[in-house]
Order: sequence, then C-alpha cells, then structure tokens
Amino acid sequence: MFEHIERVPGDAILGLIEAFKKDTNPQKVDLGVGVYKDDQGKTPVMRAVKEAEALLLKNETTKTYIGSHGAPSYGEVILPMVLGEDSPVLDAKRASATQSPGGTGALRLAGDFIAKHLPGKALWVSDPTWPNHLGLFPAAGLTLKKYPYVDADNRLDFDGMLAAIKEIPEGDVVLLHACCHNPTGFDLSHEQWQKVLEVVRERGLLPLIDFAYQGFGEGLIEDAYGVRLMAESLDEVIITSSCSKNFGIYCERTGCLIMVAKDHEQMENVRSQIAIVARENYSNPPAHGSAIVSEILQSAELAALWREELTEMRDRINSLRRDFVDALKPFGLDQKFACVAEQRGMFSYTGLQPEQVDRLRDEFGIYMVRSGRANVAGFSHEKLPYLAEAIAAVN
Ligand code: LMR
Repeated sequence: MFEHIERVPGDAILGLIEAFKKDTNPQKVDLGVGVYKDDQGKTPVMRAVKEAEALLLKNETTKTYIGSHGAPSYGEVILPMVLGEDSPVLDAKRASATQSPGGTGALRLAGDFIAKHLPGKALWVSDPTWPNHLGLFPAAGLTLKKYPYVDADNRLDFDGMLAAIKEIPEGDVVLLHACCHNPTGFDLSHEQWQKVLEVVRERGLLPLIDFAYQGFGEGLIEDAYGVRLMAESLDEVIITSSCSKNFGIYCERTGCLIMVAKDHEQMENVRSQIAIVARENYSNPPAHGSAIVSEILQSAELAALWREELTEMRDRINSLRRDFVDALKPFGLDQKFACVAEQRGMFSYTGLQPEQVDRLRDEFGIYMVRSGRANVAGFSHEKLPYLAEAIAAVN
C-alpha cells in the first residue's frame, strides 16, 4: 500500500534546527526558526512562567478534559489582552474565544471553519507570508491567492497591496498580519491600517488577522492597533492569537481563535460551530499552557513581572536591530541594510539572496531561511562583528 509514497524534504524552517545542531563550527549563529534567544543564545523559561507553574503544581486538582473551547478562564484573560480592557466588542458580547494548540492550531480551525461554512471563498495572503500559511490553508481545502507586500527594493509595497486588495472579490477572506510581519518585519502604520479597513469595508471582505507576536513589536497595546480597529469597525473578523512567543511557551502549544460576529446571537451560533471543528480535529486542546497564562494574567504581581520580561525581550530585539546596522557601517553596508532597524518583531527580510544565504551557512555557520529571513533575536551583541564581517564577505 505504501510503495508509491515518495519521501519529501522536511519543513524548511524546522529543518534548520537540525542542520544547526549538527554544525560543528564553534562560531555558528542560528538565525532560523522564530524563537526568542537571549545574549547567550538561550531560550530560557520566563520567571513569571516558572512561578505560575509552581503554583499550578501545588494547586492542580484534576487532569480531566477542559472542553473543546478550552479553559473558560483562558478566554477571559485573552479576550481583553487582544481586544482591549474596555473593548466595545467585549461589552457587546460579540467575541468568542476558543483555546487552540498554538497559533497554528487557531489558523487551522479558522481554515476549516471557512472551508465548511463559507464555501467557494478564496483566502488572500501577503506575498511573501509565513510559509506554513501556504501549506495549512490548502490542507483545509481553501484556495489561496496572493497580494503583493514588498517591492523589488525590499520595501513595504503598500500601494501595491492596497491596489490588489481593492480587486479582491466580495466576500473573500484576506489574511493580515497584526504586527511583526512574518517573514518581512514590515508593519502597517495606523494610517495604512485605516486605509486597509476602508477597502475591506467597501469590498465586503472578511479579515483573518494572524496575531502571533503581540508585544514583540512596539508593545502589547500598540501591536493590537489593527486588530482592535478592525474588530470595532466591522461586523465580522477572525483573529488568531498565540502565546508561544510573548509567554515563551512554544512547546506548550497555547493559542486562541477569536471569532467576532455582528451581535451576541450570531457569535453564539458561530461559537457552536467552532466547537465542532475543534472536536473533529483534536477534540480538546492541551491544558497546561493556558493554565500558565491564566495564572499569570489573573495575578497583578505575576502579570507585572511578565510584562517587564516581555519588555526586556522587545527592547533587546530593537536594540540589536540598530546595532546590527551600525556594525555594518565600517563595510559601507549600513544604508543597504537600514531597513533592519525599521522593521519590527523577530524577523527581518534582509534582502540577502538564496545563494548568499547558502554561503553564510557553508562558510560561516550562519543559518537563516533561504528567503533571506533572519531571526533578529538570534543576533547577539558579542556576535555582531562576526555577522557583519560574514555579510560583507558575501556582498
Ligand atoms: C517561524 O516562522 O519561524 C515560527 O513561526 C516558527 C514556525 O513554526 O515556523
């Protein structure tokens, strides 16, 4: 039965983890998968998470199922984090939260919901986008189409994006990155979000907003600008949120699908269908990650510690961005890579070509995605001179 099955190459991003581990170059640098690293190249457990886990260990009384929507306490803390403490959307009770196995799980729930309940509607993604969008939505049965996002000079092509969105057929779904665009790091300004909103409203499109990096760009509230604008201005919005990066609980698979509907009644209808979609996929989400997040956000003290640690991570990434460009000055490359200091989040579309990325890997032990996407959190102040030298050598 399996004779015809062909072996395929592994996932390009996840494959970098293995390739990096095997490399014996003592100076190797991992700029691959989107995981936060400190200056020692470690991804430590956040202190707030450790403290929450200690409390959970002491107080946990059962390991029974938590239901297809996940823990209610998790929804209660995630909705205000994403939509705002005083959100009119929450006042109107028109948003529903479903805990999911990571942000990826939330995307798949959204994909399955769209395929089942909005048949024939295409999903439009930015070109480029997170490569897994290109796999998981077609796997759910959706037709994918692309709108431009960067131009030939590696700048945000907002005019091109807007012009393309204006042509999207009514009722189709448009995927937007809330902040920290993956892979480019180019985010929309407030004014640009307003313009996208106008077009989305005029065309009657359904926004699906991928919000995987809340707190990694400018701040927890600042990064939510586009999400809140859309949710407060439109009848229907789908949001996928993730706690992988901002709580550093990648392996606990903790995400959330937020469905915003026109009113409470419609939200409850949609919510009932999401429970079915979750049940048919994996039944119940894992409990531990959401329990950590609830424990932290329900405690003023732990929440303050967590926000402090998140701010440290964000500030470190943003300072590395500036220092990286400075480190390229002696090689006359600071202008060429100036965009790295302007981009936000974990990733930078560096403009490096696949052949240059290959040389960086083979000659210098520097690993990044072949599209030229670098995980800026993988830079370290100690390694910046080495990185700059290597990049100069391949330019
Ligand atoms: C990334 O883009 O590196 C992260 O979102 C991790 C992943 O699953 O690809």
